[in-house]
Amino acid sequence: MFATVQPPNTINSIPNDLFAAIRELKKDLNAIILAHYYQDSDIQDIADYIGDSLGLSQKAASTNADVIVFAGVHFMAETAKILNPDKLVLLPDLEAGCSLADSCPPQEFKAFKEAHPGHLVISYINCTAEIKAMSDIICTSSNAVKIVNQIPQDQPIIFAPDRNLGRYVAEQTGRDLVLWQGSCIVHETFSEKKIVQLQMQYPEAEIIAHPECEPAVLSHAKYIGSTTALLKYSQQSQSSTFIIATEPGIIHQMEKAAPDKKFIPAPAMNNCACNECPYMRLNTLEKLYLAMKNKKPEITLAEDIRIAALKPIQRMLEMS
Ligand code: 13P
Ligand code: SF4
Repeated sequence: MFATVQPPNTINSIPNDLFAAIRELKKDLNAIILAHYYQDSDIQDIADYIGDSLGLSQKAASTNADVIVFAGVHFMAETAKILNPDKLVLLPDLEAGCSLADSCPPQEFKAFKEAHPGHLVISYINCTAEIKAMSDIICTSSNAVKIVNQIPQDQPIIFAPDRNLGRYVAEQTGRDLVLWQGSCIVHETFSEKKIVQLQMQYPEAEIIAHPECEPAVLSHAKYIGSTTALLKYSQQSQSSTFIIATEPGIIHQMEKAAPDKKFIPAPAMNNCACNECPYMRLNTLEKLYLAMKNKKPEITLAEDIRIAALKPIQRMLEMS
């Protein structure tokens, strides 16, 4: 899927106590482990920092570690590498991609941009380095509204690649955004009908949702926000039961922070586990250990793309 082809790590000589072995390697390498909330619970438990896309890029921008082990998906680790060209950035499974990033191929996006001259390009961080390099400002789900609100009213804007987040931001800001029609397979899988049925079963529950969900699902949400915002809301709210319309990996931190509250994952349309991100879940504790032991797979990218992609990320960090 990605340009760099590296031989996979072989699963041999995995120690019994992986947690201890990873801690040891962390010291030897002067490494930091950054994990997204959608990772398996054991990866979250060994991480030095767990966060949403904005928090993770801020942490990647400020770390003094020599090695960044990124327990997340490719675009996140790539962002860390863009910010830290001299550090070794490891991704436990190089195939951990993103359907949303894949929904915006660079050549088609270039033509889309050319068809809308004079537009400022704001791209959601869930995109490849090539798309970032074609963008003016990057945003995440936690700062998209804030960033669009800082753009002069008469400046037309392209928002890419997520149409659901784009629609939500347009609603919140009252701006007429030109949307690239990309989406996330995980957040589009939630069934409005099943969520409404769950709400009838648990009338006291609050539905909270990520803005990557479709408008029909968002219309039932008491609160909409990034993964970090959802976690904070679930702690602060007086409610004791929540229906969670985002990837259920976040529930691990919700339960840790509020053990007496009940968190119900929003169901998918089919009777499948498709509300779990198949890319995020490619990373395992074993692969994380092997990546640190063998110092691969590492993220690499062409310097011209890196430099072009850095500018809009830095603008985001300044405007957040
Ligand atoms: P946030 O981390 O910004 O909440 O986004 C969720 C997501 O889909 C990451 O891929
Ligand atoms: Fe991409 Fe969706 Fe997975 Fe996030 S949850 S990494 S947007 S596929």
